[in-house]
Amino acid sequence: MAADIGLVGLGTMGAALALNIAEKGFEIAVYNRTTSVTTAFVAGAGDLAARITPCDSLEALVAALTPPRAIILMVPAGAPVDEMIDRLTPLLDTDDLVIDCGNANFHDTVRRAAAAAERGAPYLGVGVSGGEEGARHGPAIMGGGPKAAWDRVAPVFDAIAARFGTTPCAGWMGPDGAGHFVKTVHNGIEYADMQMIAEVYGVLRDGLGLTPLQVADVFDRWNGGPLKSYLIEITGIVARALDPKTGKPMLDVIKDSAGQKGTGRWTAIEALMLGAPDTAIEAAVAARNLSARVAERVEGARIFGLSPEPVPVDGMVDKLEAALLAGKIACYAQGFGLLAAASKEFGWSLPLGGIARVWRAGCIIRSAMLDDMAAAMETGEGANLMFAPQFAEKLKRSEGGLRAVVAAAALARIPTPALSAALAYFDTMHTARGTANMLQAQRDFFGAHGFERVDMAGAHHGPWGSHEQ
Ligand code: 6PG
Repeated sequence: MAADIGLVGLGTMGAALALNIAEKGFEIAVYNRTTSVTTAFVAGAGDLAARITPCDSLEALVAALTPPRAIILMVPAGAPVDEMIDRLTPLLDTDDLVIDCGNANFHDTVRRAAAAAERGAPYLGVGVSGGEEGARHGPAIMGGGPKAAWDRVAPVFDAIAARFGTTPCAGWMGPDGAGHFVKTVHNGIEYADMQMIAEVYGVLRDGLGLTPLQVADVFDRWNGGPLKSYLIEITGIVARALDPKTGKPMLDVIKDSAGQKGTGRWTAIEALMLGAPDTAIEAAVAARNLSARVAERVEGARIFGLSPEPVPVDGMVDKLEAALLAGKIACYAQGFGLLAAASKEFGWSLPLGGIARVWRAGCIIRSAMLDDMAAAMETGEGANLMFAPQFAEKLKRSEGGLRAVVAAAALARIPTPALSAALAYFDTMHTARGTANMLQAQRDFFGAHGFERVDMAGAHHGPWGSHEQ
C-alpha cells in the first residue's frame, strides 16, 4: 500500500512520532539505518503495525511513498541530517518534500532550505517539543519553510499535535529557519524556567531546610495556582520520588552537574547577536556550564569554607512563589523580545501571539499563563510582555517577592543567577534614566566616540581633551 508519509530515524522521538502518525490514521513508511531496529519497532507497534510499512533501504522508503512524497527526518541534529539529505536527494523528485523534525540549529536549516530551493525542491524545518510522551501522544509543532510546503503536510501535523481545548498546537511560523528558531527560543525559555525552579529549590532546601518530600508538597500546592505548568508539576513528582536502590529521595542521589545539547546556548548566542539580550536564559546556560565544574566547586568550598545560612522563614514560601511568577514573566518578555528582533532581522513576520498559542499545550514550557501571553502578544510585534496590562499588574504584585528572595538568597550565600538576572532586567526596564551616560562619557574620554546630550541635538564631545593621556 502506498504510504502518505515517510519517516527516517526510529530513535526514541522518531519511533514515538511514527506511532502517533499511524494512530491518527495515516499510512507511514519507516526506515532506520539499522534494520533490526525497524523490525523490532514494527513488531512492537501492535494494531498500528497495519499502517506501518517497514523499509530496509532508502530506495525502498522512496518507492513506498505516494508522490509527491513527504519524508520526515528524525536523526540527530548536525552532520547526520546533512548526510541523510545527501543520500536522499538523488532518489527524490523535485517536488518531494524533506522535513527535518529534529532540534536543528536554524542557521543549518536556512542553509539546507536554500540548497533545496536551488534544486527547486521544498524543505521544511520543524520544531517538535514535548519529549517522548509528547511525540507519542501530542507534541507542540513549530513549522518553518515555504508556506505551500507546510500546507501540504499540515493535516498530518494538525492531527498528531497536542490540543489546547480543540485547537491543535501546530502552526507555520514563517519561511526557512523560522520554525527551528522558534523551537530554539522555546528551549532557551525551558532552560531559564528550569533554572529558576532549581534556584527556588535551593532556597527551600538550603535556606529553609526542607526535605525533598516537603519540597514536593510546596510545588504540588503551587501547581494549583498561577504557576500551574508542566515543569512545576514534574518538579513535585521528581522531588517525591524515592531511589529504588537505596530508598533515599531520588534528588539526593543525583549528581548536581547538568548536561545540555546546545539549544539553550544557541538562544543566548542569537540573543546577543541580535541585541535582544535574554539575560535570564544566558544565566541559565552559564549555570549549567558552572554546574559541570564539580571539582572546581569542591575546591572553592574547601578554600572559602562558606556554607549557606538560613533565610528568614516568615512568608518565604509565598515570596518564592511570587519570585517564580515575576521571574517567569521577565524571562518570557525577553524570549518574546528575541523573537520580535529575529522576526525583524530575518524578515520572517513571526506570529508572536500564534507562537504563544502553539506553546499552550504539548511542549515542555506549557503553562496556564501562556494563554494569557498569547492574548497579550496579539497586540503587536515587539511590545514588551511586561508592559501588557495584565502582566504589568501581575508584576506589580510579585516583584517584591522576587526582590525579597534574591536579597535573602544573596545574604544567605545561595546562588540565584537566573532570578537575579530577571530582577535586574525588570529594574532596568522600569528605570527611565539609567547610567549609560557614564559609559558614554568614558567612551568619549578615551576614544572620542561622541555622545548625545539631553538638552540639545547633535553629536557632542566632553571638555576632557586636556586630560587625555
Ligand atoms: C522539548 C525539549 C527537547 C529536549 C532538548 C533539550 O522541547 O521536547 O526541549 O527538545 O529536552 O533536547 O535538551 P538539553 O537540555 O539536553 O539541551
